[in-house]
Amino acid sequence: SEFDLVIRQARVATASDCFEADIGIRDGRIEALGAALAKGRQEIDAAGRVVTPGGVDAHCHLDQSMPPPLRMADDFESGTRSAACGGTTTVIPFAAQEKGQSLRAAVDDYHRRAEGKAHIDYAFHMIVSDPTPTVLNDDLPSLIRAGYTSFKVYMTYDDLKLDDGQILDVLSVAREEGAMAMIHAENADCIEWLSKRLEAAGRIAPRFHAHSRPMLVEREATHRAIALSELVDVPILVVHVSGREAVEQIRWARAHGLQVHAETCPQYLFLTAEDLGIDDSYKGARCVCSPPPRDKGNQEVIWNGLNDGLFTIFSSDHAPFRFDDPEGKKPGGQEVPFRHIPNGIPGLETRLPLLYSEGVLKGRITLSKFVELTSTNPAKAYGLHPRKGTIAPGSDADLVMWDEGEFELTNARLHHAVDYTPYEGMKLKAWPGLTLAGGEVVWDGSNFHPRAGRGRFLSCGTPSLRPQSR
Ligand code: URP
Ligand code: ZN
Ligand code: ZN
Ligand code: ZN
Repeated sequence: SEFDLVIRQARVATASDCFEADIGIRDGRIEALGAALAKGRQEIDAAGRVVTPGGVDAHCHLDQSMPPPLRMADDFESGTRSAACGGTTTVIPFAAQEKGQSLRAAVDDYHRRAEGKAHIDYAFHMIVSDPTPTVLNDDLPSLIRAGYTSFKVYMTYDDLKLDDGQILDVLSVAREEGAMAMIHAENADCIEWLSKRLEAAGRIAPRFHAHSRPMLVEREATHRAIALSELVDVPILVVHVSGREAVEQIRWARAHGLQVHAETCPQYLFLTAEDLGIDDSYKGARCVCSPPPRDKGNQEVIWNGLNDGLFTIFSSDHAPFRFDDPEGKKPGGQEVPFRHIPNGIPGLETRLPLLYSEGVLKGRITLSKFVELTSTNPAKAYGLHPRKGTIAPGSDADLVMWDEGEFELTNARLHHAVDYTPYEGMKLKAWPGLTLAGGEVVWDGSNFHPRAGRGRFLSCGTPSLRPQSR
């Protein structure tokens, strides 16, 4: 009964506790936590370093089909490689239904994309873009029962958006089946109207992307999403919340006893609309994402919401497009009007070090809050806890040991297939020094240890977040 691996004298951090312990690992799982555990075949001396549960990135886009000539730079191989090197050991990307496609066909398609490629464990959220009677009455309920217990709906983007009646229909299925509904909340008609006027006035540089999606379009849609969930009486999770006005709506909902969960992302802490350009330079295309980054005051609102429980989850929303590439931010090789720039920025590998360094080490959030936001709550929200999201006997041996020091964040350091990071040149005080996935070293602080196909598909259980109290 020898351990395969023992990590000695770790400062173990969970969402509820921090304590010193040895961690005994066998057959890919944590078997024991305690002082002076018996010897393992392999030993790692943590000597007082912080060890957290591996990150669960519950919002990332990998190898998602795009209209030609666009193509996502990261597939399940490079995306999960990058995630692992940044301390993330579980990803939940999307199986996106195309209009006219059955939901089952979409799920099967994304299984084929992931099969044999993922270096870390993965589950899927579905994207429901075509809620036909078959989808509502048959496919969606049976897929939820088969382990796809969450799905995303969009209030914007022509090829994805649902109208309010369609959203009510899918929320009803979420209620019946106990699924988690994620909502992209932006008012499509306002965006369309503003975009046309901007374009007609020749305002087409990347920075006008932010002008076409002011915070009121997010505020209005967030309020509407809350009302739709209230009508159906089902919890929702509002994804990628960018700033004050959406936060106010969510606080209002909570104060009225509604079960509204919220997610935010690194771009709303570390970028502003100025990163889309202060002049008409095309460089700003790198930071075009939706909702767009706001300003410094809104960054503070997001930090406060992370600290005080407004936010449930901190995800990357990794949406990987290369900058200097006809399949990416320059579609067909052209600098295009902002409306045609693919939305999204990379972030799988930088999510945890950014929040650890700028949040935990600067005293903005506690270490336990960091673990809750980046690992425990996403595992609970999507039915993966306690297998994922904590350090406890019986849980998967998915762990990160942290290095503290000076780390310059450069794209050269990263392992994704994107040709930039929006955070180039930032000086961080921490970086994952070791990532274990299923008890195997996948990242040792300098080198990635590949084993494509190591990642297993995770069938999700019932979402198990505790009801919100505020
Ligand atoms: O700009 C973004 N966030 N692109 C990714 C798709 C989405 O809406 O999450
Ligand atoms: Zn979205
Ligand atoms: Zn997204
Ligand atoms: Zn997004």
